[in-house]
Amino acid sequence: MKKVIINGTIVTATETYEADILIVDDKITCIGKQLNRDVDEVIDAKGAYIFPGGIDPHTHLDMPFGGTVTKDDFETGTMGAAFGGTTTVIDFCLTNKEEPLKNSIKTWHDKSKDKAVIDYSFHLMIGEINEEVLEELPHIINQEGITSFKVFMAYKNVFQADDGTLFRTLEAAKELGALVMVHAENGDVIDYLTKKALREGKTEPIYHALTRPPEIEGEATGRAAKLTELTHSQLYVVHVSCQDAVEKIAEARSKGVDVWGETCPQYLVLDKTYLEKPHFEGAKYVWSPPLRDKHHQETLWRALKNGELQTIGSDQCSFDFDGQKSLGINDFTKIPNGGPIIEDRMSILFSEGVEKGRISLNQFVDITSTRAAKLFGLFPKKGTIAVGADADLVIFDPSVKRTISAKTHHLAVDYSAFEGMEVTGEPISVLSRGDFVVKNKVFVGKAGNGKFLKRAKYGEMVDVESEVKVPL
Ligand code: URP
Ligand code: ZN
Ligand code: ZN
Repeated sequence: MKKVIINGTIVTATETYEADILIVDDKITCIGKQLNRDVDEVIDAKGAYIFPGGIDPHTHLDMPFGGTVTKDDFETGTMGAAFGGTTTVIDFCLTNKEEPLKNSIKTWHDKSKDKAVIDYSFHLMIGEINEEVLEELPHIINQEGITSFKVFMAYKNVFQADDGTLFRTLEAAKELGALVMVHAENGDVIDYLTKKALREGKTEPIYHALTRPPEIEGEATGRAAKLTELTHSQLYVVHVSCQDAVEKIAEARSKGVDVWGETCPQYLVLDKTYLEKPHFEGAKYVWSPPLRDKHHQETLWRALKNGELQTIGSDQCSFDFDGQKSLGINDFTKIPNGGPIIEDRMSILFSEGVEKGRISLNQFVDITSTRAAKLFGLFPKKGTIAVGADADLVIFDPSVKRTISAKTHHLAVDYSAFEGMEVTGEPISVLSRGDFVVKNKVFVGKAGNGKFLKRAKYGEMVDVESEVKVPL
């Protein structure tokens, strides 16, 4: 099947130019002016940008958490992602200490394989390091193609790992070629502060934020960065929400320590006051780390602009307001943490970032796609527009003005975290490996069409022609 996209403006992390794109089956095979139109389908992208499909490096689909399971699974979650211009998600595979890691990986494959409408991969949670875990890791990296691990420094008695586990995970990652991701908040201090608040009768959603101050995120970020320096390893800090954490990442980077940082749309545009909304509505805005005072937003934007933070994840982790968030109506610690962001990740970054002059168009592509592809072993198959790359493409109309709403989103969850927000720009059509998933704003994909992606090791890329792994 041959398709040609004409009249569009191609935008990559480094270039913006007008050219046609020839797609043969699942790959981009030629980019140039006035390409032959004797093909099966000519797609006119006049007035639109063509972006590489977005890569969302941080999702929780069909995940048990907080006494319930996230509302959006691999089908509805990846549909929402596709409508938002994302063509690859990397989801967190939870593990438990009692079981071999391979069982958890199988569980995640079972959740996703018949449901995903776009391509996907997994990061693997490490809750504890022992001899069995160390024995499994080489196979997981080399055969399963799962080349990133997640260590939680928070959620005491649930996911939280101790510093010894983080240290040994960093050591193993250095040796085996993986990237260690951390949720950086001091879980022990949070545990103390939340129990104290409840003893004092403080039960409303706002206490979620007040018991997890930014200093606690900064402290954990600095600790993780120090352990990374000590092990000469590599670290990716997820969902950075505040100045305190940005400063620790910047300090480590300035010393040459291999530390990367991701923020999320919610921290860029929402603030702590949302947790004070009446009638328990503040529960819709309960994330960990929590929303911060407004001044942190400008720090995050500046950090994206100057490269102290490099990526944007959605941290998609949706729970219905009715029946799920409401588990915490009398106790903020029982509100399931997380929200629906996957569909709006790119639109918000474009509208609030590019349109408002905070980042350039090419930085937008780097932050939403290319950098994640490079960090997580997918480049240049994913994350760019180049001959040989997968034809994962977004035809994006930068002039459309629209209002975000749960009435029009494509997720299963019953609310939008950005209800009523006006944005500029919208993906019109989205292709995954050469096939439309969304065509003229209509879903034309199919559950199960998404493929699991085995990823290259940290610092490597896969040559698209020979499949040989070479240094990035
Ligand atoms: O509140 C959040 N972030 N929920 C998802 C789980 C996590 O910590 O990433
Ligand atoms: Zn987290
Ligand atoms: Zn998360």
